[in-house]
Order: sequence, then C-alpha cells, then structure tokens
Amino acid sequence: MPALIVGNWKMNGTGEAVAEIAEMAGAGMGVGAPSLWIAPPFTLIDRAVIVSAGGVKIGGQDCHAKASGAHTGCVSAAMLADLGANFVIVGHSERRRDNGEGNADVRAKAMAGKAAGLEVILCIGETRDERDAGQTNEVLSTQLAGSLPDDAEALIIAYEPVWAIGTGLVPTLEDVAAAHAHIRARLVACYGPAGHGVRILYGGSVTPANAGDLLQVAEVGGVLVGGASLTAASLLAIAAAA
Ligand code: PGA
Repeated sequence: MPALIVGNWKMNGTGEAVAEIAEMAGAGMGVGAPSLWIAPPFTLIDRAVIVSAGGVKIGGQDCHAKASGAHTGCVSAAMLADLGANFVIVGHSERRRDNGEGNADVRAKAMAGKAAGLEVILCIGETRDERDAGQTNEVLSTQLAGSLPDDAEALIIAYEPVWAIGTGLVPTLEDVAAAHAHIRARLVACYGPAGHGVRILYGGSVTPANAGDLLQVAEVGGVLVGGASLTAASLLAIAAAA
C-alpha cells in the first residue's frame, strides 16, 4: 500500500499559500507514489479544493461534533464536506491542550466526521512525563478506548507523541514500532479483523531527512507532518523519501 503523507498546516497560511498546494498537486507523482493530503486552515479550504484539482485531498484540522446550531466560531463536518473537503483531523494534541478536548469529545467529532462522509484522522499520543513513567501503552489504550468511533470504516489513526510535535525530537524507530504494534493490537481487539485495515500514521517532527526511515517501520502507513508540510519543496521531498 503506498504511503499516505498528510500535511497539517495548523494556524498558518493566507491566500498566497494556496500556490504551494497547487504545486504539490501538479507534481504528478505517478503510479505507486504516496498520496498527499493537506489540512489548511478553514479559511483556505475552498481555495485549496479548487487549486488541488483532485491531485491532493483537502481536509479540516478539526470539526464540531454537531452538524449545526448555536456554536459561535465553530465549523461542522457537514460544512467541511460542503466545501469539498475529503477528511478531517480530530483529537490533535494542540486541540486537547488549547481547547480542553477529552476523549469523549474526540469520539463525538470522529462520529460527526464519518456521518458527513469524511475520512477521519484521529490523533493520540503520550506526553514526555507519561513516556518517562513507562505509561505510553496505557495512555494510548485509554485514549483509544475513549475516542474510537463505532466502526473502523474511513478511520485513520495518527500516533503523535506530544513531546515530539514541533520540537525536533523523534522517538527511536524501535519505540515507534512498539507504539504502532500496540495500537494495531488495540484496534483489532476493538474492531476484530476490520482493525487490520485501519492505517496508522506517525507524526511529530517528521522531515525529509527522517521520513524514509520512519516509513520503513512496521505498521507505519504514512506520516502526519506539521512544520515540514508548509511548502511544496519540503512536502515533496518527504514524498520522494517515501
Ligand atoms: P510537526 O507537527 O511536524 O511540526 O512536529 C506534527 C503535527 O502536529 O501534526
């Protein structure tokens, strides 16, 4: 299965940045090449959908759990789908930290994304303190138990150690393999054989220099990239490493 490379632009990019997405989409990577997906800020989604012309899938970085209603400043999964988005990221650690989102909120958002016909990338990961205390597997199990949607359809998991995001720190390949193996086992325990079909991404300080090695690790089906996804040059270098 070709790798999936997802760029999370976070709160970066105004109008001129869609040229980067046009360049990514026009790169014509060929058969067997990785798939490229980009989650720009909400404000760029409609323009990104137009310039990507299907060459890059476009998604949201979050959605509300409800389809509509009195929730000032929020965006629903149905609204993302209406703009032509194909996927939504839920449970990113920056959402959990900045907006106090817990596992039940993340599960509700995942269900909303699926109900709107979007593929859902559900993020989990341990903090530095939790890793140092030897609690990584326990934390991942708790996050999965509380946030997985009812079925494995259109679901992708992103393993993102909180301490690796935006820090330049990356777990050892052995630690990545161990976490992904644990997540796979939990998915199969939850969904049965369908749990084998859920793609698991690694995220946290992925760069063109380390992507090749990370993508060789068992059960790593792709990468979720923040800082190194903002330019076509950098994202396409990661794709080339894949
Ligand atoms: P980073 O972010 O690649 O900048 O570490 C990853 C993420 O938050 O998804």
